[in-house]
Parts: sequence; C-alpha cells; structure tokens
Amino acid sequence: MQEIIQQLEQKRAEAKLGGGEKRIEAQHARGKLTARERIDVLLDEGSFEEWDIFVEHRCTDFGMQDKAIPGDGVVVGYGTINGRLVFVYSQDFTVFGGSLSEAHAEKICKVMDQAMKVGAPVIGISDSGGARIQEGVASLGGYAEVFQRNVMSSGVVPQISLIMGPCAGGAVYSPAMTDFIFMVEDSAYMFVTGPDVVKTVTHENVTAEDLGGAGTHTSRSGVADLAFSNDVDALLMTRRFFGFLPANNREKPPRHQTADPESRVEASLDSLVPDNPNQPYDMKELIVKLADEGDFFELKPDYAKNIITGFARMEGSPVGIVANQPMVLAGCLDINASVKAGRFVRFCDAFNIPIITLVDVPGFMPGTAQEYGGIIRHGAKLLYAYAECTVPKITVITRKAYGGAYDVMASKHLRGDVNLAWPSAEIAVMGPKGAVEIIFREDAKDPDMLAERTEEYRQKFANPFVAGRRGYIDDVILPRDTRKRICRSLAMLGRKNISNPWKKHGNIPL
Ligand code: HXC
Repeated sequence: MQEIIQQLEQKRAEAKLGGGEKRIEAQHARGKLTARERIDVLLDEGSFEEWDIFVEHRCTDFGMQDKAIPGDGVVVGYGTINGRLVFVYSQDFTVFGGSLSEAHAEKICKVMDQAMKVGAPVIGISDSGGARIQEGVASLGGYAEVFQRNVMSSGVVPQISLIMGPCAGGAVYSPAMTDFIFMVEDSAYMFVTGPDVVKTVTHENVTAEDLGGAGTHTSRSGVADLAFSNDVDALLMTRRFFGFLPANNREKPPRHQTADPESRVEASLDSLVPDNPNQPYDMKELIVKLADEGDFFELKPDYAKNIITGFARMEGSPVGIVANQPMVLAGCLDINASVKAGRFVRFCDAFNIPIITLVDVPGFMPGTAQEYGGIIRHGAKLLYAYAECTVPKITVITRKAYGGAYDVMASKHLRGDVNLAWPSAEIAVMGPKGAVEIIFREDAKDPDMLAERTEEYRQKFANPFVAGRRGYIDDVILPRDTRKRICRSLAMLGRKNISNPWKKHGNIPL
C-alpha cells in the first residue's frame, strides 16, 4: 500500500508541474502566474479541491500519442472565496499553450455542470492558444459544448471570466457570454482574428495590444469590464467583487456587517448641483456619499463614461447603481451608454440585486452618427431592460430628466417602486430654451421675448412639482437625506415579489 501511495504522490507531483520547469519559468518571465498559482491567490487558502488531474488527451495524430501531459492544460475544481463556494477552471499555458482539446473541454464542462447542480458561480481563467490544432473538429466541438453551458448557466449562476493571456478565435465567445470580463494589462489579448489575419484580409497594420489588449477592450469596444495591472491585482479584486454577487438566481446577494448608519446625513450634497443648470458636477461624488463606507465597485469606468454602473452596499446589502454622469456629454444617453447600462440592469435583475438609478439626463444624444448607428434599437435595450426588471427599483432625479430619457431611467411608468426628486429636479419634455424655440417660434426671434418665454417655461416645468402633482415622483427630498430615504425604501421593498407574464422569452432589440 505504501508503494501505491508513493506512486500516487509522484503522479500528482508530475501532473502539477504541467509543461515543466522551463515553461513555468517562461510564464513567470512574462510576469504571469501559472494556472495553479492563480487559483491559490483566488481561493481561500487550502480550500481548493481539484478534479481530473489525471485526465489526458486522446489524440493520436501528429505524434501526439507520445506527448500526453496529465491534466491536459487546464486545472479545474472548486473551493471557496471568503467561505463561499465557487467553481473554477484555469487554463495552463505551459501545456500545449493552454490550447483546448476535447478532453480539456470535458473538464471545463464537468465543473460548469456541477456548478449548475449545486447553484454556485463559475470563474474561468483564460490563457490559451485556442483550439488544439492537432485535434481539429474535436476541439471545435469542445468549444461549442462550453458555449452551450455558458448560455444555459446565464441568469442561473454568475459567471466571471479572467483573461490572463491570449484568447483568440472563437475562444473569445465563451468569455463574451459570461457576465463579467476582467483583463490583465500587457499580457491579455482577445480577438476573433489576430494581427496577421487582419493584415492579410484588411491590409491594416495593428499590434496585438491595439487590436485586443486590455486598453482596447475596456475603453473602445466595451467588451471587458475592468483591466488590472497584473495577475495578483486581478485575482484579489475578483475576490472582492465576488462579495457583491449571490450564489445563484434563487438567492439574495450576501449581506455584510457595516457600522455605517442608515441615517447618516450628508449636508454637502445640498450644494452638489450647481445653480447654473448647464454646469456639470461629478455624479460619483453622490454615489460615494450614499454608499456604505463610501465603497463603490465601478464597472466599465473607461467606457461610455456618460453613464456610471457598478455595485455598492446600502445597510450591508449589495445594490446596483446606474447613474448619468453630467461631466461627460452632459450625461446624454447614447448608443454605448444604453448598451452598457442595459446589460448591467439585466444582470442585477437576474440575480436579485436592487437597482438605484440616479438621474441627470438631458435626453438621447442627437446626430447622424447616433441615428445611423442605431440609437433607436440600442436605446431601446435600456428601456426594455428597465421595463422588464422586477427587482426593487429606486430612482432619484437630481437635476434634468428630459424627454424619452426621463421615461427610460427607471421612471414610475416603468414600474419604479420609489421615485424621488431633489428640489433642483427639472422634469419636462425638453430643456427650456429648446422648448421655447419650438412652441413660441415667432417670439424666439426676439432675444428679449425669448428670455421672457424661457423664464416662463423654466418656472412652469423646470421643477419637480409638476411630476409630483401627478404622483410620478413620490416625494421631493433634501439631498442630504438621500441615503436615509434610499435605505428605508430598500427595507420597505425587502419582500417585493412581482413577476412578468409567462413567455418562452421576450424579444429584446439586439
Ligand atoms: C496546439 C498550441 C496552440 C494550439 C500554441 N500551442 N497554440 N498547440 N494548438 N492552438 C503550443 C505551441 O506549439 C507551443 O508549444 C506552446 O503552445 C507555446 O506557444 P508559442 O507559440 O511558443 O507561444 P507564444 O510565442 O507566446 O505565442 C502564443 C500564441 C501562439 C499567440 C497563442 O502560440 C499562437 O498564435 N497560437 C495559435 C493561435 C491560434 O491561431 N489558435 C487557433 C485559433 S482558432 P511548445 O511545445 O513549443 O511549447 C480557434 C477556433 C476556436 O481557436 C473556435 C471556437 C468556436
């Protein structure tokens, strides 16, 4: 027996070496951790239970029968993050470049299936040369098996992708179907076709970094949510991020202890909105002052900055924040902002996370670029997401809520549960000047009359009381009391339970 145990230990030790010392050194030389080191940082110490360490590929072509490496390029299993169960897979670039074989895919599918059975999130770490070239279609089939599970898991258990190396070809579509994508700067790349193919087909010269690096995907394409400067940062922030998410769609997100009182008054908020309605202010200041201990976990901070999305906690419970940012494009809704916020709202709705919407929006962005780009279809995504959403929805209008954007931003008419306004709120079809130029076209030609009519319109509509009289907002509150009013609303909504009519699925404008 002793001998068998020794053999087992030896086999295990060999498997843990993956592609060998030389390739591990090369991985380290690039500033990257190995697949197992990444799991060690991500999970609670000693919590990892590995599966399928002895799995090998079954390929016999191109001399592969002599090249089997136990584990076959991916480390899979489960463990805990701050005591909470999570399933993980981590591709091992030292083994055939982390490329995906049929057996490699089966390992990933095994943990994804188990995660669904027990209702726990999945975190996938990608570092791979893509489909295992020697296996051909078996590898493509393996990818599709993973894709199918990504879709079946979507909205049932949270899925997070960490891109920590190359991720090319169709392989990018598994992360793309997960809920969040985090990338590492200078070592992670995502593209459907690499720079060489781009050059051949479109004659463009582009580096891998420009084509699909972390900077590109967090600021230009919006494919990734966040970028981190190295593996350790990315993994530690993922641990923190995990604390905002429930285990599955039937549970509430975990509650944290907080010493921050519900009744904390923020007097400085009374002067946040400037007297001049055209002067911007930083909406993040409001978010930070509302959140427990000022802790706000922002997502996509460098993409569509005219809208802010992210998680915070109120009285210890996670909430999703969606807020217009008057500092960028005056907080207008454009294509990118609508898509960014729409997807975030749907995640919160799928996973029982209440949504707080902070509104200062002058409308949808005008112009040919937006119209030709399909602002009608893309803006409808956000409208659809809010209208479909059944989690508690609390809306605070700080200043402008004009036109269609008023309707879209979790208005009462889209089943907003609690709709509050600051005294500085202006709720109308459009801003005073634009309105006067249309309804008093003749008067508007005379500057004095224009000013008079504008003032008249401002007096009549640039306030929260017209909407208040109709019950479209529930109360006009002092900015300093906003945290307390939100906390009380959330407590009141704790057992909110509404559902949408039965359907196979809706037809969100994609
Ligand atoms: C088999 C692979 C491999 C692959 C890399 N390797 N990619 N083995 N299948 N797809 C092996 C290499 O042979 C090498 O083995 C080791 O991994 C490290 O690769 P290097 O090229 O030496 O590393 P590096 O210079 O860092 O370049 C990494 C790379 C490059 C950019 C990922 O290897 C590369 O371009 N690979 C091919 C990428 C690709 O086109 N994949 C197919 C995409 S299509 P040794 O033994 O020398 O260490 C696709 C379809 C998916 O994925 C469709 C899903 C629907």
